[in-house]
Amino acid sequence: MWLSSSSVGRKFVMAITGAALVLFVTFHCLMNAVAICWPAAYNSICEFLGANWYALIASAGLAALIIIHIIYAVVLTLQNRKARGNDRYSISKRPKNVEWSSQNMLVLGIVILAFLAVHMIQFWAKMQLQEIRGVEEALPPAAGTLFIQEAFQLVWTPIVYIIGFIALWFHMNHGFWSMFQSCGWTNTAWIERLKKIGCWWVSIVVCCFIAQAIVFTVKAHQHYYINNEDLRAQYVEMVGEMCMKDFGPDAAQIVNQISSMPYSVVSEQIPQAVQQMNAQLENPGFAGQMESNPEMKKQFETQLKLFKSYKVLFDYLSAQPVVEEVVEIEANPNPAN
Ligand code: HEM
Repeated sequence: MWLSSSSVGRKFVMAITGAALVLFVTFHCLMNAVAICWPAAYNSICEFLGANWYALIASAGLAALIIIHIIYAVVLTLQNRKARGNDRYSISKRPKNVEWSSQNMLVLGIVILAFLAVHMIQFWAKMQLQEIRGVEEALPPAAGTLFIQEAFQLVWTPIVYIIGFIALWFHMNHGFWSMFQSCGWTNTAWIERLKKIGCWWVSIVVCCFIAQAIVFTVKAHQHYYINNEDLRAQYVEMVGEMCMKDFGPDAAQIVNQISSMPYSVVSEQIPQAVQQMNAQLENPGFAGQMESNPEMKKQFETQLKLFKSYKVLFDYLSAQPVVEEVVEIEANPNPAN
């Protein structure tokens, strides 16, 4: 087939997959901007894009694009090296007008891939993959800001991300105009213009990513995504929705009750209830009673699982440091004195 057997065909595939990836990266950058301006809206988008069939198809398409782009990149690089033979070792013979990034596209791609591996472990594995696996008693997979908190409170995260963004700048900057060239655009004046457009586009996107990483790091160190009351209420709501999905209408009444109670009350009472229910299970009299009444056993087990799902979130949030403002208010309940 022309797309895989000829060098021009292979370059064309690189260009098309590269263009789609540039659009994805730009869209992703806009999504991150929502996380900064409206964190609760960002979580709602994450919920919408969770593990639904349309999101899964989009993710599979994206993975296919990345894989095809990588395979063709390796094939083209090996093919070029073979064609140039020993010349590739002779630095003095490198054409002067060939940029540094064009010579190092494969290496830059490998750095981006390493960044992506870390990124997928920090986000995708805990969000979409977690939802697919359907593991109970986990943090709500749609709570994007909670995973931003987890990732960016680590000292090394912004460092790894900024290295990834710099590699992305060089890689996309070269890739942007060269994909037009690969598609047969040979007009020299236009190639120069496309180089400028590409440089602006990529620089704006990468600068936004760097600025976002800095804002996320500062906010994560202030524990904003954990202590913000609206976000906390949203996380509790998300656990409720997870439970309704897992346990069906049986859970609705309890979930509604929990949602209507203040955070400070449920976050204390539910972990206590789990402890009491576990203790009850160890009581031989109660265990015997449950064995003789399957309906009661079913209800008890559902309630315990449901409470345990909430407990994971409450335990996680209460294990995090409280914001300084709250500590000050508690230490001095009457600021007038
Ligand atoms: C500050 C920087 C970034 C943040 C905070 C961020 C955040 C996220 C989050 C929260 C998700 C999970 C979405 C979900 O599964 O529902 C995600 C997925 C992803 N991110 Fe990023 N991201 C950043 C930069 C990047 C960059 C620069 C790239 C590409 C080079 C990238 C590539 C991806 C990919 C491929 C996915 C998987 C998308 C899917 O499953 O469909 N991210 N990111």
